[in-house]
Amino acid sequence: MPDLNLILLGPPGSGKGTQGERLQEDLELPYYATGDILRAAVKAGTEVGLAAREYMDRGDLVPDEVIIGVIADQLEEAGADRGFILDGFPRTVPQAEALDAELTKLGRQLEAVILIEVSDEEIIRRITGRRVCSEGGHIYHLDFNRPETDGICDIDGSELIVRDDDRPEVVRNRLEQYHEKTSPLVSYYEKQALLNRVDGTADPDQVAESIRSLISTLSLEEG
Ligand code: AP5
Repeated sequence: MPDLNLILLGPPGSGKGTQGERLQEDLELPYYATGDILRAAVKAGTEVGLAAREYMDRGDLVPDEVIIGVIADQLEEAGADRGFILDGFPRTVPQAEALDAELTKLGRQLEAVILIEVSDEEIIRRITGRRVCSEGGHIYHLDFNRPETDGICDIDGSELIVRDDDRPEVVRNRLEQYHEKTSPLVSYYEKQALLNRVDGTADPDQVAESIRSLISTLSLEEG
């Protein structure tokens, strides 16, 4: 089978991270979540982190030139040569064009863009109930995906916290940014016949099943 190069696209809180964690285990492919990469850079105080922090705190997108180089470096690593899962990148048309150029340079192409569709009202409900673990970023929800022990990550035992950008006023801005700057990617990838829509309002197991069956169809077509 050829390498499997996938993008998870969707509004903030649509479940990209939740599904990305599962896909990574299923497919055993490198998983690059730009939000996680940027939060780690902020925590470590690197140059990228310093450049990104103020944008993230406001819920704005970080400038294209900051994030494009980060992803290009990841894709050129040996581990990504069997395929990859991108979550949160691209998020603007210039980022998508830069990704196309990078893949052309590497002699590769995208197999599918998976759009997880969820309404704005549901997103607010999900984000206000989200808790993440302070060590590994594992994702929980106060109603939909509770940890076994309140406030503690099932996987690494670290404390569960509210993300800095999950405050209501920041979430509203993140949604505006999505509609203005990221949603044009839907038609961008539709024109390339790469877009696959998944109903993100079902429960996480059902969403995972829809994504799995989509990928097995793709693999059969490619095979
Ligand atoms: P990032 O971390 O990527 O944030 P996001 O896209 O806003 O996405 P989220 O992580 O909020 O949500 P998700 O879709 O992963 O949902 P999750 O699975 O957690 O980016 C953060 C910031 O970094 C950006 O604002 C920007 O500043 C910057 N940035 C990142 N990439 C960038 C780029 N390319 N360019 C420029 N700037 C960039 O689920 C949410 C909640 O819902 C959880 O509690 C979960 O348990 C629950 N849940 C999930 N699925 C379901 C379900 N099916 N039913 C019920 N509950 C569910």
